[in-house]
Amino acid sequence: MLYDKPGLKFKNQDCSGEIVWQSPSNIAVVKYWGKKGFQIPSNPSISFSLNRSYSKTRVLFRPATGKNFKVRFLLNNTPQPDFKKKIISYFKSLTKIFPFIEQLDFEIHSNNTFPHSAGIASSASGMSALALILCDIERYCFNRLTRLEDFFQKASFVARMGSGSASRSVFGGWVAWGAIEGMEGTSDLFGVPIKNYIHSDFLNYQDSILLVETGTKKVSSRIGHDLMKNNPFAKDRFSQAKQNAKRLVKVLKAGDIDEFIRITESEALTLHAMMMASQPSFILMKPQTLNIIEEIRAYRRETGVPVCFTLDAGPNVHLLYPKSNRNQVNKFVRNDIKPYLGENGFIDDEIGPGPKKLM
Ligand code: PMV
Repeated sequence: MLYDKPGLKFKNQDCSGEIVWQSPSNIAVVKYWGKKGFQIPSNPSISFSLNRSYSKTRVLFRPATGKNFKVRFLLNNTPQPDFKKKIISYFKSLTKIFPFIEQLDFEIHSNNTFPHSAGIASSASGMSALALILCDIERYCFNRLTRLEDFFQKASFVARMGSGSASRSVFGGWVAWGAIEGMEGTSDLFGVPIKNYIHSDFLNYQDSILLVETGTKKVSSRIGHDLMKNNPFAKDRFSQAKQNAKRLVKVLKAGDIDEFIRITESEALTLHAMMMASQPSFILMKPQTLNIIEEIRAYRRETGVPVCFTLDAGPNVHLLYPKSNRNQVNKFVRNDIKPYLGENGFIDDEIGPGPKKLM
């Protein structure tokens, strides 16, 4: 594997330039919650990449002027010292894979198309964009990773080190990260796209992200993953998720929407059950979250429209449904759900084609 080979350093040449990528957030149906070793998931996860919720990241790089590499970081045109620290420690963790990091200075401009810390994985989009750019620097300056498959596999491997879920954002459509029994090619080390296995009903899935609250998260996912180490239900949870991942791959292939709904909602509620059963415990749902869940279930019961919900580690609700039901569901959201939403309303999103190089 390419990332196992010793990384490259500049010797007699130097290299500077500007690279821009846009990379999406994703929403997991089978959730990653709990890890071991260095960013190895305790169970496989499956998500789809979003279309309109993405980070656009521009990196200017030039030969380092001092002994240590320097990073300047702006999010939505504003310097962000906390994020800058995270990026520096992420880059330091990557110097074995990309020794050239230590020989460069970086100016990083990132913009998200969605509110920060909304429980929409900004770490997934942001870290995957950075990983793609680092691989692109390697490609541009050293003429490596010229085979697309190698490029994206390494980008996913590297994104995983910044944020597990970011490993899935490197690809479009449905993506699995973590070894799934019986599914060749899946790995704990990087995500793999599973589009060859998908029924057409699941190729255009919609995600209306219902923003109950867009404040800062109360628990970082790093702490959340750690708490699984002493969670009394961890073992059963991991084996449930392994079964669900295996089952979901079949469901996506068969187009079995009823079973999809069952798995999706069970995964979301189990994720939150795990947080509630941790020590210390976290309740990240808000009263509006529960109201919305009840509205969704009532609407499905009364109309037969196959909507379902999933949740990330926060109070916002992702409403998932096939594209053929778009008009009905849009009315439902505007009429019945809007009163429960915060000032940012909702984000109308859908499955997307994955990252894009802009420059
Ligand atoms: O990638 P992390 O470490 O931020 O963890 C993400 C965890 C969840 O979003 C809750 C689930 C998932 O699989 O995306």
